[in-house]
Amino acid sequence: MKEAPPEIQGQSAPRLELVARTWARRGGRASLSIGASQAAAFAEVRPRLEAGPFGVDAGCGTGRSSFALAAATPALSTIIGLDRSAARLAKGAAELTDARVRLLRARIEEFFVQLEAAGLQSTQTWLLYPNPYPKPGRISARLYMRPGFDALVRSSRSIEMRTNWEVYAREFAQAISSLGREVEAVEPFDPPAPISDFERKYLARGQRPWRVLV
Ligand SMILES: C[S@@+](CC[C@H](N)C(=O)[O-])C[C@H]1O[C@@H](n2cnc3c(N)ncnc32)[C@H](O)[C@@H]1O
Repeated sequence: MKEAPPEIQGQSAPRLELVARTWARRGGRASLSIGASQAAAFAEVRPRLEAGPFGVDAGCGTGRSSFALAAATPALSTIIGLDRSAARLAKGAAELTDARVRLLRARIEEFFVQLEAAGLQSTQTWLLYPNPYPKPGRISARLYMRPGFDALVRSSRSIEMRTNWEVYAREFAQAISSLGREVEAVEPFDPPAPISDFERKYLARGQRPWRVLV
């Protein structure tokens, strides 16, 4: 399998020092204000989150992965599939049903800030192929550099992040360490079957994904 995704052009090596310095400067906390529509979205699902253990498929796209993850984790009473794109959410998974899955239009960073403020923790948070923003000048757009990522780390008991770009995996792991959490693994791996639309696409191209486990 190929290691390097052909569409990733730009930054060629992880900028671990920059990632560490950014979180050190912020003291491990970066505040974020919550808009009205985001507050309403969270209020809608909050009772389910308070009712039992839940997982979050953050940046779920069409939500296909949220159904697959729900099937694989029967102990969780709810899986929230989060995406900021109404078009993606509307497009996908229409043929799939599972009462335990709730797809929600919301922003990842804000959602986890709200989760933390509510004193709730996700049992498992999945980040499957987050937007890489591969150009060096776009590093601050990557999820692990944004305010709210700190809340995601504190409000998730376990995290699994998958990417097709090693630089992203290594910088993500650095951000986790800079926030004081132990990283269990940063490794290339072979999924037994594609779990999401993007994973299917990358596997079909012969690319080997990376994952970070926390
Ligand atoms: C590359 S796609 C991956 C989708 C899906 N996880 C998969 O593996 O097929 C990234 C998704 O994250 C969503 N996204 C990016 N940034 C987001 C944010 N800050 N909050 C919520 N969704 C976001 C995008 O709308 C997009 O659907």
